[in-house]
Amino acid sequence: MTSEQVEQAQPNSGMDHRIMDSANGLSCADGRFQPGSSARGTIALLLALAALCLAIICAIALAAPAASRTLELNADWHFHRGDQPGAEQPGFDDHDWRTVAVPHDWSIEDLPGQSHPFDRHAPGGAAIAYTQGGVGWYRLKVDLPRDAAAHTVLLRFDAVYMNAQIWVNGQRAGAHAYGYTSFTLDVSDKVRPGANIIAVRVNNEQPSSRWYSGSGILRPAFLDILKKIHIDADGPTITTPQVAEEKAGVHASTIVVNALGHPVEARLVSAIVDAGGHELRRTESLRTIDGNASLAIDQSLIIDRPALWSPDAPNLYRLVQEVRLGGRVVDRHETRFGVRQVTFDAEHGLRINGKRQLLRGGAIHSDNYMLGGVSLPRADERKLELMKAAGYNAVRSAHNPASQGLLDAADRLGMLVIDEAFDMWTSPKNPNDYARHFKEDWQFDVARMIASGRNHPSVILWSIGNEIPELTQPIGHEEARQLADLVHRLDPTRPVTAAVNQIGPGAEDYIKALDVVGYNYFPEQYARDHVAHPDRVMFGSESFSAQAFDYWVSTDTRPWVIGDFVWTGFDYLGEAGIAWPGFDDKFGIGPYPWQLAMAGEIDATGRLRPAAYYRQVLWKTHLNPTSAFVEWPGALGSLPDKAASGPRALTNWNEEDLHPVWNGFGLPSDYLPHRVVVFSEDEEVELFVNGRSYGRKPVSKATEYKAVFYARYEPGELKAVGYVGGRPVSQWTVETAGPPAAIRLSVDRTKIAADGDDLAYVTAELVDAKGHPIYMPDTDKPLTFKVDGAGVLAGVGNGNPTALESFQSGRRSTFRGRAVAVIRAGHKPGPIRMEVSGDGLPSATVILAAAVK
Ligand code: GAL
Repeated sequence: MTSEQVEQAQPNSGMDHRIMDSANGLSCADGRFQPGSSARGTIALLLALAALCLAIICAIALAAPAASRTLELNADWHFHRGDQPGAEQPGFDDHDWRTVAVPHDWSIEDLPGQSHPFDRHAPGGAAIAYTQGGVGWYRLKVDLPRDAAAHTVLLRFDAVYMNAQIWVNGQRAGAHAYGYTSFTLDVSDKVRPGANIIAVRVNNEQPSSRWYSGSGILRPAFLDILKKIHIDADGPTITTPQVAEEKAGVHASTIVVNALGHPVEARLVSAIVDAGGHELRRTESLRTIDGNASLAIDQSLIIDRPALWSPDAPNLYRLVQEVRLGGRVVDRHETRFGVRQVTFDAEHGLRINGKRQLLRGGAIHSDNYMLGGVSLPRADERKLELMKAAGYNAVRSAHNPASQGLLDAADRLGMLVIDEAFDMWTSPKNPNDYARHFKEDWQFDVARMIASGRNHPSVILWSIGNEIPELTQPIGHEEARQLADLVHRLDPTRPVTAAVNQIGPGAEDYIKALDVVGYNYFPEQYARDHVAHPDRVMFGSESFSAQAFDYWVSTDTRPWVIGDFVWTGFDYLGEAGIAWPGFDDKFGIGPYPWQLAMAGEIDATGRLRPAAYYRQVLWKTHLNPTSAFVEWPGALGSLPDKAASGPRALTNWNEEDLHPVWNGFGLPSDYLPHRVVVFSEDEEVELFVNGRSYGRKPVSKATEYKAVFYARYEPGELKAVGYVGGRPVSQWTVETAGPPAAIRLSVDRTKIAADGDDLAYVTAELVDAKGHPIYMPDTDKPLTFKVDGAGVLAGVGNGNPTALESFQSGRRSTFRGRAVAVIRAGHKPGPIRMEVSGDGLPSATVILAAAVK
């Protein structure tokens, strides 16, 4: 990083961060915390503000920092794919390496000499979507101020997949094996004023993961330049021991570090600030901290009539803290938190602030499809936003600790989170997976998961593992006990769970270690196990989408069962073809070039599949009370490789082959009537084709909230109407589309932050002359996506599970009529223009703005 980037660096946008000297947010004036103002208004105004802010930041960067600060290391890394002996040396010549933005995943990039990332012979195979792992190197130049030696300098990574080794100026700074936990290295004795070189070697040795992990610095990285007296990098531990309507008691335990060789008298000032920026309470503690030591300072504050956090009202507060020496502020830190009371018991289930909550959950993996394994905060937020809008209220972070970005988003959106530590302990699932490191590292990695998640009100349970192979063996029982003990010691406020896939006498000693028991695919055990263990709190940690009704009925009728997590809420790369109707044992899972699992109720691009609409009905969300989908005729339905296997073979993870389309699937008009499945929360449904009724049918729990009709295709309108008390109350229509006439672009946000991280998602759809979306494969088209201005194209995907196409070149076909492109902001504000073109169609353009935060 050059001094220019130091000047432009943005503060960590996460929940728990050190406040930049010059950042928006709180500033300290007259000893009182004041809310900062965020830039608003026209683009011209934003540009003017941007120039002003840059000038101020510039002035601060040139002087010695007044207090501790944080730089986000997201630009100008040099990257080399492959091993490179000696690359840790500061003098190593990396001029021919590529420049990349971090977070970064090299496995999603096109392989040399081809226009896609897939390799039939990739040793990780279908598990990691036939992509390559291997070794990669990153190098970054960071300019530090003259007085760098007078500071504590910490290098923080939210996650590197995996086996990271780090050097600073040629000196080894540390190593970290697990690819999903955050880690911090104190590099104070390795940095110097002026230019410094950070080098990171990453080794994703295959076969490793059971799903697509991606390879590289997959989550954000930071450099903290701290005064020698500062708040510990993980921030305080905030709990809310008393929660009542009238008052909440907030407790903060904050470690203040004194890295000077002599004792100091430091004052920790902590203030609670509400969502409107008003300071509610503050407290101060003056303490002597020994030289080269740290001290935990406990503080208690009260919030009167607290705005409680819940999935329906995700109210948040901030704890804004300063460390002062005499009158001088040496460190500032703020942590968002929520006030909520969570209880679990077999009589009332899960209650949040006294109100019963059923977990309407989806298990998710951490890849972001067209971005690969890159976890940018906005990508993680969008995933949760889409799930929340679809009716889910909970996610299980399978099978690894969630990113900060995801947890921050869950807090803001009101999504409940089960944060999971591991997919394996000492018994491996793949030769180079984390089992190689478990014995040495598990305590550290569990502690990292908890340090990253403990202040997030969204996190309600810690899961210590998924389908642990040794769970029926004495060693597995002992490991479970030790893991649960450690979690309880580190966080006495949240219960411990695990996802158990072998229920029976052999697993009882394992289950004993758990406070809440996750059942992977055993709904039939809920009643039986309740008799034997009446106090046991259970949930479906994984369930089959195709059996959503059975799972939900097993769940919502039993107080001791607190929810259900479908495998999966969102589709993911890797475990390719697990839900493919053509799945056949002779292939293992999907043969090359399968890349998506196709198990997500929301597809990889963010489009709801029919199963997601069914769930809305099952959960009585009133989001789409009635919806109708048409079955794709033919032995293997719509998915590719129809010829590859024999008779239709459904896997358990498969969903029905239903589609939001009314076009006869290109079959002759005298083809048999089409099977139309209507989902409805109402009492009756009626199906119409061009106004002609196919009759009314009752829908209820007895029909599993479904009605099936057989309707002859004729071009026009398919309509389903829902009735309550004989009166129409809801409807759903699908219209036949003509030939493609245009590309329609829609964008999730028209203004993004010029912080090098923010994203805009642009959906390109083929539509006919009347604007009807087009769906059939024979009309899919290659499109070209071009981005100019203050952003870059970060990826394009279309949800096709077998496409041999690039995610990054900007050439990508539609799949079922659409593709979704992601624009990543640069560091400079300004307009961003995206143009999408396709043969024979007028090109379409969208203009966004990147603005200073
Ligand atoms: C489960 C496992 C998940 C996934 C799923 C099938 O048993 O916990 O990680 O592999 O099967 O796709």
